[in-house]
Amino acid sequence: MNKDILTKTVSHLLLPSKGILAIDENLNTCNKRFEKLDIPATVEKRREYRELLITAPEIEKYISGYILFDETIRQNTKDNKSFISVLQSKGIEIGIKVDKGVEEFSPDSSEKITEGLDGLSDRLREYKNMGATFAKWRAIYNIGENIPSPKCIKANANIFAQYAHICQRQDIVPIIEPEILIDGDYTVEKCYEITAKNLDIIFSELQNADIFIPGIILKTNMIISGKEATVQASAEKVAEMTIKCLKEHVPNNIGGIVFLSGGQSDEKATLNLNAMHQIANLPWPLTFSYGRAIQNKALRSWAQNSKDTVIIQKLLLESAKINSLASVGKYQSK
Ligand code: 13P
Repeated sequence: MNKDILTKTVSHLLLPSKGILAIDENLNTCNKRFEKLDIPATVEKRREYRELLITAPEIEKYISGYILFDETIRQNTKDNKSFISVLQSKGIEIGIKVDKGVEEFSPDSSEKITEGLDGLSDRLREYKNMGATFAKWRAIYNIGENIPSPKCIKANANIFAQYAHICQRQDIVPIIEPEILIDGDYTVEKCYEITAKNLDIIFSELQNADIFIPGIILKTNMIISGKEATVQASAEKVAEMTIKCLKEHVPNNIGGIVFLSGGQSDEKATLNLNAMHQIANLPWPLTFSYGRAIQNKALRSWAQNSKDTVIIQKLLLESAKINSLASVGKYQSK
């Protein structure tokens, strides 16, 4: 493990006013999003869409890293430039989703465990040779009666530690993404309680495995009310509780923290991040790593008229820009 390489990658990813764009939807998720908008779920359509996201002019002003899926990291533009070379020419770091999705944790529970450690070291070696400098691994948790259970939390945390260890051995920065799903009618306080417990267990596993904490990035959910909750916490409340939770349950020397948008509206994801940056003295870099909240408008526009690439890429740029402003607390809603 070369700590200098890891910290350099982290600092480049988390430069002020920049964030990370997630375009690493697996085949299933990407196809589902396409089908909802009557877009054919084909390899070529996925390539065509990702080409627009990757070649958007000036996106590097707001985005420091792209997280790709295995299919995408191997693809080229229609004039045969590799996606990797296009991103590298803009100074953008290449990230790769390396988990293999989730499985039932046990036959009698609805909880999920993330898979993909088998062969991970070889896969990472290949991605690194291709140009990847960081990776992502996601675990998901539903809030419900007696879930997430301590057993499942611990099992996923232990896997995060193994994944992080394998990444850091190869000087790849691991993004650790424990996502409390937005589904449900839970309160913002419940979200706080579960996220805090989960983070405690994850960082205890990471520390036991001697993970180099300044060389990792945490990608987390914000502390919000469940999607179906009748009372929805305001941006100020979300900001206050999220920062409190992160300050109390994440080591101060972590490389940085980024958020997923998780199905919040685009506007909420931006406003919440902006509100967090009204709070002084954050001990770590804090920015976005959104998928949907940055892609939504561009994807809808592409579905309506795939030929109008200027408009589609402008919409992507605009979403990246407002989140860049929010990441330094300078976003003003219209
Ligand atoms: P969303 O912002 O759409 O939640 O995606 C982020 C992500 O990387 C999910 O794994």
